[in-house]
Amino acid sequence: MAYKVLILNGSPHTNGCTSRALEEMIRILHEEGVETELLHIGKEDVRGCVSCGFCMKNGRCVFDDKVNEAAKLFEEADGLVIGSPVYYGSPNGTILSFLDRLFYSTRFSKHMKVGASVVSCRRGGNTASFDVLNKYFTISAMPVASGTYWNQVHGFTAEDVEKDLEGLQTMRNLARNMAFLMRAIGAEKERNGLPVQEHDHFTSFPDGK
Ligand SMILES: Cc1cc2nc3c(=O)[nH]c(=O)nc-3n(C[C@H](O)[C@H](O)[C@H](O)COP(=O)(O)O)c2cc1C
Repeated sequence: MAYKVLILNGSPHTNGCTSRALEEMIRILHEEGVETELLHIGKEDVRGCVSCGFCMKNGRCVFDDKVNEAAKLFEEADGLVIGSPVYYGSPNGTILSFLDRLFYSTRFSKHMKVGASVVSCRRGGNTASFDVLNKYFTISAMPVASGTYWNQVHGFTAEDVEKDLEGLQTMRNLARNMAFLMRAIGAEKERNGLPVQEHDHFTSFPDGK
């Protein structure tokens, strides 16, 4: 069985630093027999979530744009990679609006789909941005794949990233670990199915009486 990974690049630069880091991952994922689909969303006109509740009834976002397209690919995928440049110490605004709507509007289970996030900065704000991206996975029962450092590259241009040898090495190790995790989860799913998840409680604080 071929595992599939959806990759989102939040950067407006399709040949920029984030893209260079993701390319390194893609090369290794292909070597590992994993199929990939890359969406560049950084130049899309992506508005934020307006908390209208349309998705609760309809299972898709009221704004019918690339978010709904990505949702179908995400549902079919075994893993999701999120790449983002760092803007003022956070992931860029476009990817955040995209992810808020993608995760909130979709009703399909993300349980045990493997997540990995990658950030690119010139100088700083990388680990804070990395933490923000990983939170989309850890609220969705998605195991997070790790590299051999926090998954970051440094640079202002793709040429700079080329010189970040440890950053690129981290991307390769991350891709191998992600492929391994997807295979391990797939095999265990075949044998024993997914672990039970309880969903009975939502903001309930029983007083014990
Ligand atoms: C609006 C804006 C804000 C930025 N803020 C930061 C920052 O907080 N820290 C940093 O190191 N680089 C910052 N940068 C630089 C980019 O994060 C960095 O060059 C990144 O590697 C670009 O990735 P890309 O080529 O994939 O777009 C900023 C760039 C822009 C356009």
